[in-house]
Amino acid sequence: MVTIIEKVNSFLHEEIVIEKAASIIKSGGLVAFPTETVYGLGANGLDKKAAYKIYHAKGRPADNPLILHIDSVKSVYSLAENVCENAKKAMEKFWPGPLTIILEKSEIVPYEVTSGLSTVAIRFPQNRIALSLIKKSGVPIAAPSANSSGKPSPTRASHVAYDLSGKIDMIIDGGPCKFGIESTIVDFTSNIPVILRPGSITKYDLEQCLNCEVYEKYSLDSQNNVNFPPKAPGMKYKHYSPSAKVFIICGDPENVIIKINELVELAKTDKLKPGVLASNQQKQYYKCDFVLAAGDRDLPETIGRNLFKMLRKFDHYGIDVVYAEGYTFEKVGAAVMNRLIKASENNIIMV
Ligand code: TXA
Ligand code: MG
Repeated sequence: MVTIIEKVNSFLHEEIVIEKAASIIKSGGLVAFPTETVYGLGANGLDKKAAYKIYHAKGRPADNPLILHIDSVKSVYSLAENVCENAKKAMEKFWPGPLTIILEKSEIVPYEVTSGLSTVAIRFPQNRIALSLIKKSGVPIAAPSANSSGKPSPTRASHVAYDLSGKIDMIIDGGPCKFGIESTIVDFTSNIPVILRPGSITKYDLEQCLNCEVYEKYSLDSQNNVNFPPKAPGMKYKHYSPSAKVFIICGDPENVIIKINELVELAKTDKLKPGVLASNQQKQYYKCDFVLAAGDRDLPETIGRNLFKMLRKFDHYGIDVVYAEGYTFEKVGAAVMNRLIKASENNIIMV
């Protein structure tokens, strides 16, 4: 299959591109499109055959359900049942935006989309191209992140092309994603809302909005812990992994710099090609040929925006081992560290 790649470069062109993309979705094909979080790999969310194609193209395990993307709050009521007051408040406050809500599914949602679960994940994104595509297609769009399963999520059309060219019908290039990490997932099927995946909308933001306690149920480690099976099935898989081995070094910034410089030397003596994932503040202190600055360590959202891009860049340059600074777990830091820890497969060094 030849994958069409369309860069949107004017309003007029955008309309033509969306028209073409929507006709692919309506006829059961696959289109990758930008959202404000990461690029999604979209298909008609009410068509089980189309959903199957997503799993096939990504190499995604069959027990990992998809998110349905919609373009209005009212669509929730045809896809879900028992929409509680907390869910209503959260939709009102954070949609369109990087929040996915879990509710009981309605009959029209195929089990192929929810991997057999009786619940469904729904998101109303804010990216203009994503919204026009959903509107023109006239159906909810099922879309996981548009990467090969296990690889870092794509935040640029070029990342999608690298992973999925030849496997999908079309990629809409709408430029870089605004947030760079996937949406916050909140389960509203029980009395107390539960965060299943941290994201740019934080526990604090949700508690402020809902005026109640919000639980968190995701393991920060990347192991498939049998005592704590994740409720978002996707959270148990190896994720966000570049080919390079990643180590996170946490602790006092000065000690982190010393430790990373030691590790870089050791890697070189082992004939490995080391790289450092640094903050803007500390990048100049590393004695390594390959240092990438991910963002401001005091503003985790800036790191979130670049993290996946940087992980892919290390692979592009053939780096064998990446030493990454650890960051705060406060607010958006929880989401950034969740992704980084998964990428490192739990290789954390405390100093
Ligand atoms: O920001 C995002 O959410 C991006 C963009 C494209 O919207 N999408 C995304 O999809 O990250 P994906 O498939 O890569 O991650 C979806 C996660 C998986 O961990 C999956 O297990 C979980 O959502 N999920 C989907 N349906 C669920 C359900 N009914 N109950 C619990 N978890 C669910
Ligand atoms: Mg994903």
